[in-house]
Order: sequence, then C-alpha cells, then structure tokens
Amino acid sequence: MRFAGKVAVITGAASGIGKAAVLKLAAEGAHVFAADIDEAGGEAVAAASNGRIDFIRCDVTRADDIEALMNAAAVRGGGIDILFNNAAAAGDRAPIDEITPEGWDRTMDLVLKSVAMGIRYASPHMKGRRGAAIVNTASVAALGAGYSPTAYAVAKAGVLHLTKVAATDLARYGIRVNAICPGFINTNIFTSSLEVPDAHKEQAKAVIADMSAGAQPVARGGQPDDIANAVAYLASEEASFMTGTHMLVDGGLTIGQRHAWDPEAPGLFDALVAMEDAARAGAPA
Ligand code: NAI
Repeated sequence: MRFAGKVAVITGAASGIGKAAVLKLAAEGAHVFAADIDEAGGEAVAAASNGRIDFIRCDVTRADDIEALMNAAAVRGGGIDILFNNAAAAGDRAPIDEITPEGWDRTMDLVLKSVAMGIRYASPHMKGRRGAAIVNTASVAALGAGYSPTAYAVAKAGVLHLTKVAATDLARYGIRVNAICPGFINTNIFTSSLEVPDAHKEQAKAVIADMSAGAQPVARGGQPDDIANAVAYLASEEASFMTGTHMLVDGGLTIGQRHAWDPEAPGLFDALVAMEDAARAGAPA
C-alpha cells in the first residue's frame, strides 16, 4: 500500500499503459482520478474499482479541459500528490518532407503540449505535498529514429527535455519530475489510428502481438503492467532521490543492433568469419 492516502491523476486512463497504472496505484491505496477522452472506456475502468477510481472526461489537447481536470481532482481529493501525464496517440504519420503544418501542430499539441499543460495546471495543487511526484510518458522514440512517425518522435524527445527542465522549476516546491520510456508494449496505440474496420484491427493486433514477442532481446511481448510497475516506482517514496531523469523499460530493444542478440540475424562480423572459414577450406575468393 505504497500510495495509501495519496491522490493521483492519470491521463490516457481508459486503455493500455494508463489503465494498468490506474489499477496499480488504486490497488496500492491511491484515490485515482482517471482521465481520458474515451468516456465508455474510462467509466468501465472506474466501475471495476472499489470506489478508489473516479473517471473524469478530459481531452488533453484542450488546456481548459486539463485545468478543469486538475481543479476537480484537487477539490474532490483535497490536493494532488501524483500526476501521470500519459495520454497520447501516434499523431501524423507523414515523413518530414511531406508533413503539413497542421499535422505537425496537431501532433505537438497531443504529445508534448498536453504534458506541459498537465504539469502547469497540476503543480499548483502539488506544491508542498510530501512526496509529490510527476511521471511523464516519453518513449524509446525519444532516444533514436525508426521507432515511430517523425513528429511523434520529436514530441517525445521534447517530453524528455521538458521533464528535466520542469524538475528544476519544481524542485523548490518538493515536486519530483521523471519520465518513463516504454519500448514496444502491446496496447491499442498501433491500431487505434488505423482507418480500417474493427475486424481488420483485431487481425492487426494479432500481428503486432506476434511481432512484439520477437522485437527485442527479452523474448516476450512488452505488457502495460511492465510500464505500470516502473511508473509506480517513480511515483513512490522509493524513488525520492530521483528527479529530472527517465527510466527505460524496453526489454533491451535499444541495446544495439539486432545481430548482437539474435542468431538468426547475422551481422558483418559473421560474414567475415564465414569468409575466413571458406578461405581455410580452400574456396576461391
Ligand atoms: P493506448 O492507445 O492503449 O492508450 C492511450 C489512451 O490515451 C487511450 O485510452 C486514448 O483514448 C487516450 N487518449 C488519446 N488521445 C487523447 C486525448 N486527446 N485526450 C485524452 N486521452 C486521450 O496506448 P498506450 O500504448 O497505452 O499509450 C500510452 C502512452 O504510452 C502514450 O503516451 C504513448 O505514446 C506511450 N508509448 C506507448 C508505447 C507502446 O509501445 N504502446 C511505446 C512508447 C510510448
């Protein structure tokens, strides 16, 4: 019961990582205000609880919605101890030579500005509260190319830097700010933006689950609970000496090149050894 007596606000709470974090913090004693644009999904998460979870509808691209969310949580909960800025989606999928200004802005609003405004409107309610902690969802996409669409990757890199800068702004109030960088996690994020019928989405989810199992050195698909466990740690007193940094929870996805851990994916060194073997066997060059 690490969060007994604590009040938490979690965005993107109706699905995936956010939902897992809501259930984890509530199970450990927090009163959780679960926010999402998906009302049916959010109400279902709250209904499954023992009264410790309240759903509040919030579109994180709207600063007025975020301000209302934080004010409501603070009034009903008596303040805010934990904020998990987690809601996002893939955003505009165009490469940099094709993206429109509108697509760029829409993605920045959803993925980066939402986190900034979450901190902006929650922090006045967190000042001076013992153990106050903010966790922002960044991504492996913040650390390198090839994990996501371009605008999303840039916005997530912004989330990482925002985390550092906000940690300095808020240290004087005793508020810690950290980020989590998930790897490839089995959630709806890969299919929610697909413009295909639901039956196709189910097929796509099966393909993604299969791909995720072999995508990294740890030989299983990443699950929302893998991230929720790390978020709970960062939000807890156990992490009280951590601020302005991030935790990478990716099953080793970003360790290095695939051939380093996958015997089915030979790299340059394997090719050289094969050449050596062939030369020893007397094969022509
Ligand atoms: P998900 O699609 O399962 O959940 C995202 C939730 O955010 C949904 O409930 C959705 O309704 C909500 N949401 C979307 N737009 C919103 C808005 N404007 N206002 C309020 N709520 C909104 O996806 P997942 O994977 O759980 O994503 C959670 C976070 O994790 C996101 O920030 C995502 O970028 C990040 N992430 C996910 C990874 C993965 O492999 N699944 C990898 C790295 C980062």
